[in-house]
Amino acid sequence: MKAAEAGASGAAAVGPGAEAQGIAPIAENDDQKQKQRVGKEKEEEATAPVPDKVQVGGMPEYFVERKLGKGGFGQVYVGRRAVVSKMKDGPGANYVALKFEHRSSKGCNYGPPYEWSVYNSLGGVHGIPKVHYKGRQGDWYIMVMDMLGPSLWDVWNQSGQVMSQEMVACIGVEALSILKELHSKGYVHGDVKPENFLLGQPGSLQEKRLYLVDLGLATRWKDPVCGTHVEYDQRPDVFRGTVRYASVHAHLGRTASRRDDLESLAYTLLFLLKGRLPWQGYQGDNKGYLVCKKKMATSGEMLCRYTPPAFRQFTESVVNLKFDEEPKYETLMRLFEPLCGPAPQRPILIEGVKVGQKRMREPDDALDDSGPRKKIRLGLPATQWITVYNAHRPMKQRYHYNVANTRVEQHVEKGNDDGLYISSVACCQELWALIMDAGTGFSAQVYNLSNQFLPKEWIMEKWEEGFYITGMAGSMTGSSLVVMSKGTPYTQQSYKVSDSFPFKWINKKWKEGFYVTSMATSHTRWAVVMSRNAGFVDQCVELDFQYPSEGIHRRWDAGFRITACAATPDQSAFVISVPRRRPMDETQETLRTSAFPSSHVKEKWAKNLYIAGIAYGRTVS
Ligand SMILES: Nc1ncnc2c1ncn2[C@@H]1O[C@H](COP(=O)(O)OP(=O)(O)O)[C@@H](O)[C@H]1O
Ligand SMILES: [Mg+2]
Repeated sequence: MKAAEAGASGAAAVGPGAEAQGIAPIAENDDQKQKQRVGKEKEEEATAPVPDKVQVGGMPEYFVERKLGKGGFGQVYVGRRAVVSKMKDGPGANYVALKFEHRSSKGCNYGPPYEWSVYNSLGGVHGIPKVHYKGRQGDWYIMVMDMLGPSLWDVWNQSGQVMSQEMVACIGVEALSILKELHSKGYVHGDVKPENFLLGQPGSLQEKRLYLVDLGLATRWKDPVCGTHVEYDQRPDVFRGTVRYASVHAHLGRTASRRDDLESLAYTLLFLLKGRLPWQGYQGDNKGYLVCKKKMATSGEMLCRYTPPAFRQFTESVVNLKFDEEPKYETLMRLFEPLCGPAPQRPILIEGVKVGQKRMREPDDALDDSGPRKKIRLGLPATQWITVYNAHRPMKQRYHYNVANTRVEQHVEKGNDDGLYISSVACCQELWALIMDAGTGFSAQVYNLSNQFLPKEWIMEKWEEGFYITGMAGSMTGSSLVVMSKGTPYTQQSYKVSDSFPFKWINKKWKEGFYVTSMATSHTRWAVVMSRNAGFVDQCVELDFQYPSEGIHRRWDAGFRITACAATPDQSAFVISVPRRRPMDETQETLRTSAFPSSHVKEKWAKNLYIAGIAYGRTVS
């Protein structure tokens, strides 16, 4: 422990507040409960049985017969018309499907199920069953639909857990044509999986038709009035969907868009074809985290090994779609069409790509799986230095790297003597990196090298003296380097150490006026410092299993700048903020390098760009 010589006062106006909760390290479990489906709780067991007879919304009376299926929200039964009808389908058909949702279920807290509103605004979509009546009877919300046949999961399961290549290819083509139309109405489905694809009723004319049901998680990707794309956001604590088939973006809490349905379709097709996905079998509280990590680590080539090339092309193409990119549905359908077999023998009827219709062709027909196009899902995982550079008027900045514990003191002393303070720190293989410069605005600084992550007693002591944490780093073995300074604008500070990224806590503190001002990792643990009066007016977090390039670019475009970064061997997190006072020059650049970027730093200095943040950890090569 060592106090910098440079004295002077001018610290915080209000005494530092050490929040008890902020100080006690809290284990992961309470902040990473995996929610399989938001609001879809298995509550039916506790509720009353469905009625024997139903009549809602002016429909004829129906007897409730055998159960057709059950999902996260609803239970679906066969309804048989009390007064026999000759009609095979449509309103008043002899048999219908009745979807029951209990009044007390999560989806119905504020009145009728959310799904109803989606059906209302959709109108008819090819491949989505028609809803004929809806209404409430007693404690049940009841939706009356065309009765369909088994789900693809049922078919797969009943046929020995295998499905032919022709069948899966047909499903691919037809599913794409349904999703294309659903998307054209401004909606994404949000829960594409074998259980939500149904065939027509056995023995009927629709027997070989494919349908998509369950709009309970559907969201708009397009504004119904202005027609603009919804805005990008990431809420790492929000997961909607089904773990096995969810897109990586859905796992990471990103706003759903068209690409997510197609990524889930890729996993659905591969599940049906191969009978298994590489991320099955994880259990426990952080199942979602492990599944997402595995999805990221599984290349298209690995996932689609021993399947026809179409599947790999499809998968690679859809996982690399940008947030607001329009998928090339027709081009993707054309990948599967040759595998569907001759029309009369096809197990599923496909509309397919309308031949001879040139205008149906999409601009730039090819799926660029190579070339200069920036991929969203990048290559192999890598551990790298991440450096962030900000424009600054010319100033003195120094960096030291590969610094052993015993050498920290001499570098810091030398820097302090030259009027420099530590502005950021990082750690790579038990060796520290120190950035010192003249642009910090600090008036005094102390640091602590400790074998704890983080040294609570010392921090509390320094808080009492008016210092605030302004930089920190942790090593793989749990030691840490914490830097605390005077002369910051902060008026209160709080920190949390956690086994998973503590987004919930951050969210809570945001509401109390705190903003993230420092972040560090120690192996897989995170430490986050949040301060009041941090000089920001808005802040968000990009968290990913790779460098979240797309998210960062989108935030940059919206006026955000990276203000903190840290990475574990698995994940990297970037805190991105809007400063209260916009800098004259808003230039910000990031670099990822396998070695410490000494020569790059010098090049940046020559352009008046200075290191503003540094971390070592998971990116992608
Ligand atoms: N129209 C229908 N005809 C026949 N079976 C259906 C129909 N709709 C749903 N099902 C069956 O009921 C299950 C649950 O329905 P779904 O709408 O997906 O409810 P949830 O929102 O609870 O997942 C489906 O997986 C399917 O097996
Ligand atoms: Mg369902």
